[in-house]
Amino acid sequence: MLQLPDGRPARAAWPLSDDLLHLNHGSFGAAPASTLATQDALRAEMNAAPVRWFAGLPARIATARVAVADFLSVPHHRLALVPNASAGMSAALSAVDIPTGGEILVTDHAYGAVVMGAERRAPVHRAHVPLAAGPGEAAAAVIEAFTDRTALVVLDHVTSPTARLLPVAAITAAARTRGIPVLVDGAHVPGLIDTPLDGLDCDYWVGNLHKFACAPPGAAVLIARDGARLHPVIDSWGSAEPFPSRFDVQGTLDATAQLTAPHALTEIEKLWGWQRVREHAEELAAYATARVASAFTELTGEDHTVEVGMPAGPMRLVRLPGTLGAAPGAPDALRARVLAELNAECAFSTFGGRGYLRLSAHAYNTPADYDDFATNCVPTLTAWSRALH
Ligand SMILES: Cc1ncc(COP(=O)(O)O)c(C=O)c1O
Repeated sequence: MLQLPDGRPARAAWPLSDDLLHLNHGSFGAAPASTLATQDALRAEMNAAPVRWFAGLPARIATARVAVADFLSVPHHRLALVPNASAGMSAALSAVDIPTGGEILVTDHAYGAVVMGAERRAPVHRAHVPLAAGPGEAAAAVIEAFTDRTALVVLDHVTSPTARLLPVAAITAAARTRGIPVLVDGAHVPGLIDTPLDGLDCDYWVGNLHKFACAPPGAAVLIARDGARLHPVIDSWGSAEPFPSRFDVQGTLDATAQLTAPHALTEIEKLWGWQRVREHAEELAAYATARVASAFTELTGEDHTVEVGMPAGPMRLVRLPGTLGAAPGAPDALRARVLAELNAECAFSTFGGRGYLRLSAHAYNTPADYDDFATNCVPTLTAWSRALH
């Protein structure tokens, strides 16, 4: 268990409700109280003197993005701050040339909202990557789906429904030899992978700072090999500026999450160090999946472990019993029901016609969280699954 310097459990640093089990850091993240206090102080400053605040804001955002670029080991001129991964993906999707007849290639693990955005630009083709595929098989599955019509490849660095890595560097290298641009959706990645852009020569890369990196909601990065064609989704006074400074001006917007991001990053480093948090979260996620899967097995007699090629450290899958969570729309309904009736924040997904529970682990989680879920929620989920037949 990670502890605070005064010996209290790490959990004491987060203002998370004690009435709920928090097993879904992956969806929206959660910021420590000290980080939120930093943001509150900035908001107070904004509201006390709005004219001074907004006049000075672009310069402060520029300072924040330089600190974030250093954290991710990316050259300063390649990184812009955006409010969330969706805004970064939209900006990048708009920057790519798609000739008439061109298609966008995604995988069947892509984030639904990103696919919807891609579909507004061009027809989308989905490459099937088996859940258990290792790096070679996964790369081949995507590369074999390139055609003369492929105008852009959109790849998840860490997938949302299946909590796995994709071999983004190998696929990007193959796309480059064919002149196909690559946009990598690294929404889950900042903090989770130490230097995620090392050896990855993609055109555009997007990542949230409010997920594993624990900044307040509303902070993300858009990284470009060449940002000349990138414009923020909000056109504002920065339009004539070069990349990335044109992203420092976003009209009248509460940018305090972006300004707080550097504090969030140093806070975790100061308390435990990012490497230790990554190791803790990965070990705990392995414990969580084994514990919860075996609790299901005791009740169903079936194997609930999932073979995921390239699993993503702190987020892991457990197979749900029967057809629970398997139908389209069922994961969201299940998430709402589990929250309302079992007081647990969890993520569910469907892949290949099966329903999955996606468990997350972060600094504030302990084995007791998953023991609690195994004892108090698994029997009810199993009963719900039986009621479907
Ligand atoms: C893979 C992936 N891409 C994009 C997003 C969108 O992130 P946001 O809602 O912060 O824009 C998410 C959110 O969970 C995600 O998991």
